Amino acid sequence: MDSIVVQGGGPLNGQIPIAGAKNACLTLMPATLLSEEPLTLTNAPRLSDIKTMTELLQSLGAEITSMQEGQVQAMSCHGTINTRAEYDIVRKMRASNLVLGPLLAREGVAEVSLPGGCAIGARPMDIHTDGLTLMGADIELRDGYLHAKAAGGRLKGAVIDFPFASVGATENIMMAATLAKGTTVINNAAREPEIVDLADCLRKMGAQIEGDGTSSITIQGVDSLNGATHPVVTDRIELGTYMLAPAICGGEVELLGGKLSLVGAFCEKLDAAGIDVTETDKGLMVKRRGDEIKAVDVTTEPFPGFPTDLQAQMMALLCTANGTSVLEEKIFENRFMHAPELIRMGAEIDVSGGTATVTGVKKLKGAPVMATDLRASVSLILAGLAAEGETKVSRVYHLDRGYEHVVRKLEGVGAKIERVKD
Ligand code: EPU
Repeated sequence: MDSIVVQGGGPLNGQIPIAGAKNACLTLMPATLLSEEPLTLTNAPRLSDIKTMTELLQSLGAEITSMQEGQVQAMSCHGTINTRAEYDIVRKMRASNLVLGPLLAREGVAEVSLPGGCAIGARPMDIHTDGLTLMGADIELRDGYLHAKAAGGRLKGAVIDFPFASVGATENIMMAATLAKGTTVINNAAREPEIVDLADCLRKMGAQIEGDGTSSITIQGVDSLNGATHPVVTDRIELGTYMLAPAICGGEVELLGGKLSLVGAFCEKLDAAGIDVTETDKGLMVKRRGDEIKAVDVTTEPFPGFPTDLQAQMMALLCTANGTSVLEEKIFENRFMHAPELIRMGAEIDVSGGTATVTGVKKLKGAPVMATDLRASVSLILAGLAAEGETKVSRVYHLDRGYEHVVRKLEGVGAKIERVKD
């Protein structure tokens, strides 16, 4: 297993290119199951999660060619397909559950292993399955697999009121509804940019979708979908993560491809913390307004609120703020695993249930640390960049799931960072 070693120190200056969004690509790829014609994604991020989705789709019968070092994924799913998504692949990555809606829509049947919980929470699938049941699917849990069958072989449109604006359930139902008979309305739908990106791609494939980006999405089912070529939207979480690098270390960094519309609520908190963000021709420029980082309170919420996927990184910033910040995690029940590791680096953090109270210290100190999820791991790298001395972050495979070329990108702005074999 590899580790990342960071020497804390001076300011960061330069440019960081932002990749296509992992979480958009992971929902766009299963859309290939909806058509007999090729679907090509450009601006795909080069990540291990994308490889896992490739493996899953290939196991279902899709042909996938990865080109330009993984930035282009050419997919085709013609002819007969396998409708069983095996536990061995699904357990590696929860987003595998996004094949359920497309398989059911195309074939009228699907067997998809339940992914199980993960480090950040239990993550059940009831909102997905309740929605598909309203669309005429009979779904039974047997042997750890969801066995789903559409009555009469084809899903039908329905009005579905979500109890919570689940991102994955919105994506699964949206894809399922494109080929259903009649009209589906999703109320209290998720509004994330990744949902809008999926809707844009499905529309290029011939789907009839309105209202994406709002809380009510209407999908008029069609008989078949065609092929398309679609660029994956910019990764707003990678963007926000690297925006925090100059915020924590000082200096001035331009995030190429960044857009304010992707990170609105996050930028409001950065502004309150004393960080300036300005739009440029090529993206976003970030620098500190003065020497001091100010304490701010943060509550995670579905989009357009502050994203849970940036909470750990924001905590790394607030560890050296002047004053006390309160962070409330409202999306996942166990997403403060980075806190004990940051405490090992000298941070003062008190976690109680879904609330973390962070009292800023003058300086963090380097230490060997590890984390059990993707965003927690990168928060430790950010903390290490500003700490005194050396920080060694182990279990780098978490990072490989969601950040391409993390060492190269941070080295490019002057960070002292290297990947080492244990
Ligand atoms: N939930 C249920 N029942 C359901 C579905 C969700 O109770 O049927 C709960 C979950 O347990 C969780 C909350 O609702 O507590 C939010 O879940 P949601 O379905 O919105 O999230 P997701 O689709 O599983 C995606 C991202 C996550 C991101 C969340 C929230 C992908 C592949 N994953 O997960 O990304 O945190 O939305 O924005 O799109 C990450 O990239 O690090 C990551 C975890």
